[in-house]
Amino acid sequence: MYPQFPPGFRFGMSTSAYQIEGAADAGGKGPSIWDTFTAQGGTVRNGQDGRVAIDHYHRYAEDVALIAGAGVQDYRFSFSWPRVLAGDVDFYERLVDSILENGLRPVPTLYHWDLPQELEDAGGWMNRDTAHRLADYASTLVLRLGDRVRDWITMNEMNVHTLYGYALGDHAPARGLGLGALPAGHHQLLAHGLAVQVLRTHGARSVGIANQHFPVTPATDSPEDVAAATLFSDLTNWTFSDPILLGDYPSELIRAGVGVPDAQLDRDLELIKARLDFYGVNYYEPTMIEAPRVGKDYSGVLEVDIPEGMPFSPVPVKSDERTDFGWAIVPSGLTDILVTLKERYPALPPVIITENGASFHDAAPGPDGRVHDERRIAYLDAHLSAVADAISAGVRVDGYYCWSALDNFEWAAGFDERFGLIYVDFSDLSRTPKDSYYWYRDLIASQARS
Ligand code: FCB
Repeated sequence: MYPQFPPGFRFGMSTSAYQIEGAADAGGKGPSIWDTFTAQGGTVRNGQDGRVAIDHYHRYAEDVALIAGAGVQDYRFSFSWPRVLAGDVDFYERLVDSILENGLRPVPTLYHWDLPQELEDAGGWMNRDTAHRLADYASTLVLRLGDRVRDWITMNEMNVHTLYGYALGDHAPARGLGLGALPAGHHQLLAHGLAVQVLRTHGARSVGIANQHFPVTPATDSPEDVAAATLFSDLTNWTFSDPILLGDYPSELIRAGVGVPDAQLDRDLELIKARLDFYGVNYYEPTMIEAPRVGKDYSGVLEVDIPEGMPFSPVPVKSDERTDFGWAIVPSGLTDILVTLKERYPALPPVIITENGASFHDAAPGPDGRVHDERRIAYLDAHLSAVADAISAGVRVDGYYCWSALDNFEWAAGFDERFGLIYVDFSDLSRTPKDSYYWYRDLIASQARS
């Protein structure tokens, strides 16, 4: 029995530009911060980069046909900002046309972490002007594609980008600013608000955002651990959703930390709380936090290490099962976070799960030509059931997109971590649907449609 969803529920698959496109210099495209970061050496596992990635730029027609073959309704992808800056919107015209010809709805994300290096050189997200530049970029795209694209996502996971890229050094642009990174978060939120305005002005019918969320639990009931978990969740969850859905930051500390004078901040927050048609939630795993214990070694708990001196420390989440990436498998965390969002935000728009999935180190197709990824099927099944549970609990969820359509370049982890429903052989770039792809197809076909 497959989990069942209300009529009209939309299924999809997600990808992002830098992780799949390759064609790093095609059409005069300049570098993004990920081109720079990966070229530095010692930044990505096995020294890998996305210069070729899975060459989706040239193989998009095959990829879109494969995605459509699973019976999904929506395909979420992202634009490469440096590519668009170089004037190559033609590629996205071809891509969108092919998505539509295959009967799918394109759901593009404006910004999925690949900032043009020239903007980084001018201060990147620490510079308020980057928000205005994103709005200009949004207008280029909506003017060219707005006749064919009805659903738009502004930003992807501003929290992860701010934490890993600006607070720590594990992702591009590796700034290592600690709590000093908060302005980078604020400027992304401002970019979101400005983009919503631009998209709507040019007739976009449906606008949303993709935010990563996760339940944060204190390791014990002690006041110190509870305070540490609250601060961590404020910084990584609510800093990026309260301004959008409540019109303010979760605490005075964070309001002060974003470094914008009060009157200006109030005007910014007005823009940031623009009405949305849907709210995208990316979910992977919960986090457990404690107040730092003197002398204890916390390295290796998260994919990245929180530097010493921070007032919170992640500890391993209790879970019997982990993905091959080491992420805890806790499907109920998805139900929990959806219910929490509904309780926290009376005006929560309909939710779409814009990412959810798992990395397993799948073996290449065997003599039967198949990739047997039972653990991914179990993961997807359990998480889709968790979504169905949230719907039963009264949360309006309108869709689910799995991460990812295809195996791809998993940021600092390179090509080892395979999240795709479609296997990619990285030596010859051939594509093979995995068993999970057929499972997803059958699940979608099993839904009673209205
Ligand atoms: C998310 C990112 C996405 C992918 C998955 C595994 O944080 O948005 O690009 O890397 O994790």
